[in-house]
Amino acid sequence: MNSSLITTAYIASGVLFILSLGGLSNQETARRGNLYGILGMAIALFATIFSSEVTGYALIVITMGIGGAMGVAVSRKVQMTQMPELVAILHSFVGMAAVLVGIAGYIDPEAHFSGIEKTIHEIEVFAGVFIGAITFTGSVVAFGKLRGTIGSKPLTLPFRHLINLIAILVALWLGILFVGAQSKGFALLGLLVMTLIAFGLGWHMVMAIGGADMPVVISMLNSYSGWAAAATGFMLGNDLLIIAGALVGASGAILSTIMCRAMNRSLFNVILGGFGTSSGTVSEGEETREVIATNQQETATLLSEAKNVVIVPGYGMAVAQAQHPVYQLTEILKEKGISVRFAIHPVAGRMPGHMNVLLAEAKVPYDIVLEMDEINQDLSDTDVILVIGANDIVNPSALEDPSSPIAGMPILEVWRAGIVVVLKRSMATGYAGVENPLFFKTNTRMLFGDAKESITGLLNSVRQL
Ligand code: TAP
Repeated sequence: MNSSLITTAYIASGVLFILSLGGLSNQETARRGNLYGILGMAIALFATIFSSEVTGYALIVITMGIGGAMGVAVSRKVQMTQMPELVAILHSFVGMAAVLVGIAGYIDPEAHFSGIEKTIHEIEVFAGVFIGAITFTGSVVAFGKLRGTIGSKPLTLPFRHLINLIAILVALWLGILFVGAQSKGFALLGLLVMTLIAFGLGWHMVMAIGGADMPVVISMLNSYSGWAAAATGFMLGNDLLIIAGALVGASGAILSTIMCRAMNRSLFNVILGGFGTSSGTVSEGEETREVIATNQQETATLLSEAKNVVIVPGYGMAVAQAQHPVYQLTEILKEKGISVRFAIHPVAGRMPGHMNVLLAEAKVPYDIVLEMDEINQDLSDTDVILVIGANDIVNPSALEDPSSPIAGMPILEVWRAGIVVVLKRSMATGYAGVENPLFFKTNTRMLFGDAKESITGLLNSVRQL
């Protein structure tokens, strides 16, 4: 393939990636956005593989075959609730690729640079490996925290900010030595030492972040993985990789800012970590207060007598895979003339847009799915609110307890409604590990059990009324 054809293909891919991002910003166009992305990536792969610089097709076919087969196997097996973990581990691959490409590019005996080009190449390698290494270990820790193999409590080592600062300064100093080094062996040693420091830094930075701030971390790592890919593009001299990386990096940075705004956090403070260290009302001690339990019949009666109902879905709805019966319940209530709307918190579930994806999958109409800001003020005029497997996003201590790990986070103020029915299996805490005073309020009823079973039972009871 000649170079002008490749340039044309790369421009087409770049445009498709931009259209893809535009499509993904809205539920109704998200499917089309995905298709644009797939098409853009297919064109990019095709053009790159058939460019004149690529030789050794056997190796490419074998590695793409192995990687593709693993990708298909994993994506077929992965549960919807495991998607955030999958995204986190895929970010780590991008980080590791940047590290390996950087080191390989540096020791490549066929790479000859001189003068200013040599300096630029060395800066690209050093920066690419640094960002890649931080992304790698940061994403692996995020994967562990989302999977539950690493606790959601932040690790707060003494002098942790000083440790981070020293690590960054030492890496910078090594970078200065690396770029000016006369001996390649000495420079390589510096590069490897910096890689270890950056691995440690990525690990420490994400370990220091509390459970409730994980949404910001995920979007930040998404952004880092984009910059790592862009750095890899510079190292390989591949313009499209630079464009794609920059698009991911910039959109991830915008998403992080949106997440911070949604959670009332400053990005700087989240990066520095340590949120969630104050104990607040983390439930470890004995429970003395009482909750009011209810059952499916009672809840069905409450729903049938209501004029308007709001459903707040959370992570537990994803775990129980209750979205389909929830949709059926919505339809039955609507047939009875009851207004039903959904209230979506920006960090409900475990990834941005998690609840929207589930509800779209169950064919819930988009016009009854409202964002927190659009519906919060209406909750006080609502007869019944069903909280399905949500916990942190409806926790009043975010507003009432300044020492709470989630203090300041805007939440859905469900207790302002006539009656709140919370569907969950036990009194266990949510992701942030914080006790929820909502469960003890006089207008709250607890419907214990798996959300899918409870909703299916509720459906039957409502049908019989
Ligand atoms: P959580 O606070 O995690 O609460 C989920 C609740 O669902 C749990 O209390 C659990 O209680 C219940 N549950 C689990 N399985 C269930 C089942 N099968 N049936 C019924 N209930 C079930 O969820 P949330 O309110 O959606 O809040 C999200 C949290 O995750 C926030 O702290 C947020 O910061 C964090 N987070 C979000 C993201 C993104 S980007 N959205 C990423 C990482 C972390 P039982 O065990 O008693 O049933």
